Amino acid sequence: MTPVELHPGIGHPVLRLWQADGGPSPDRLIWPLFVADGRRVREPIAAMPGQCRWGVDRLREVLDPAVAAGLRAVLLFGVIGEGRDERGSRADDPAAPVPRALRLLRTAYPDLLLIADVCLCAYTSHGHCGILRPDGSLDNEASIARLAQIAAAYAEAGAHVVAPSDMMDNRVAAIRAALKSVRRSTTAILSYAAKLASCLYGPFREAARSAPAFGDRRAYQLPPPSRRLALRALRRDVDEGADAVLVKPGLPCLDLVREARDAVAVPVLAYQVSGEYAMLCHAAAAGAVDLREAALETLAAFHRAGASAVVTYFAPRLMGWLAGDRAEPRPARVRRRARIERLTARRRAP
Ligand code: PBG
Ligand code: ZN
Repeated sequence: MTPVELHPGIGHPVLRLWQADGGPSPDRLIWPLFVADGRRVREPIAAMPGQCRWGVDRLREVLDPAVAAGLRAVLLFGVIGEGRDERGSRADDPAAPVPRALRLLRTAYPDLLLIADVCLCAYTSHGHCGILRPDGSLDNEASIARLAQIAAAYAEAGAHVVAPSDMMDNRVAAIRAALKSVRRSTTAILSYAAKLASCLYGPFREAARSAPAFGDRRAYQLPPPSRRLALRALRRDVDEGADAVLVKPGLPCLDLVREARDAVAVPVLAYQVSGEYAMLCHAAAAGAVDLREAALETLAAFHRAGASAVVTYFAPRLMGWLAGDRAEPRPARVRRRARIERLTARRRAP
């Protein structure tokens, strides 16, 4: 069995904080950011209202206010323009978005926890999360060797945490070994361990341009109805040395968040994924729910289920909402009515 270390999970102040249980708090939010190739890029993502792809040279513009408001952690996804190939060569190209962003953010925000998503789907010509054999089947050994190489490169570029989301078998052990070989043995590994084959990743695939060109991901992401397989995956990744595990999608998997919390001794994170985010935004735009209340209620649910931290596209807005701001100023008519009621109540009081 692989020896399991405790130091990577307590190397950064934010990771230390997540070792204890706690409720909704700015310290327990992670904002996923799409970092794109190109200069001065700010591309709104149609499927994810309010989220954009950002060029590395504009990251400070988005992060300055979020960090000032209390954001402690970001999760970086790369989006490339050109250069997709069979082995996802651009994932660890030093000039690619994620390595460049890591180098920049490490100096620009010395206290921010930098988590780099590790996967191949945004970099491969076929859009799958691993390396394929000529017959189209998944080559697990080649995939985990390549993912480990990418994780090591991200650690060297400045990631505090590498987060494999590919779901190849035994990549956590391979990544741990690769981190050691580049003398980054205190870099933490956040494993997307219980990642189910969900329909709720659609908006993300548009954002990252990572939809598979053929087939689907059901041979490596877990079948949603299977609770016991999800538990095996969680335990297996912790045995291989994961410092934290992630469950996704979020609300559809609250049961697994609770089970993970009880079954493994590392912090458990929940990911409120792109489709969940889009559902709430559209429902709010249609007047069905209040966005602030929905975001706060779902955040409370993740923590009630046992999450130590939550990955959510609402993170920057939640900074304000947790501090008690209103989403939008209430319409003047409502404010006027409230004021009149207050005045009448005061006049009627004895
Ligand atoms: C890719 C990856 C996906 C997400 C995170 N990393 C999508 C997928 O498996 O196709 C989903 C995140 C979201 O929907 O917000 N490995
Ligand atoms: Zn992938």
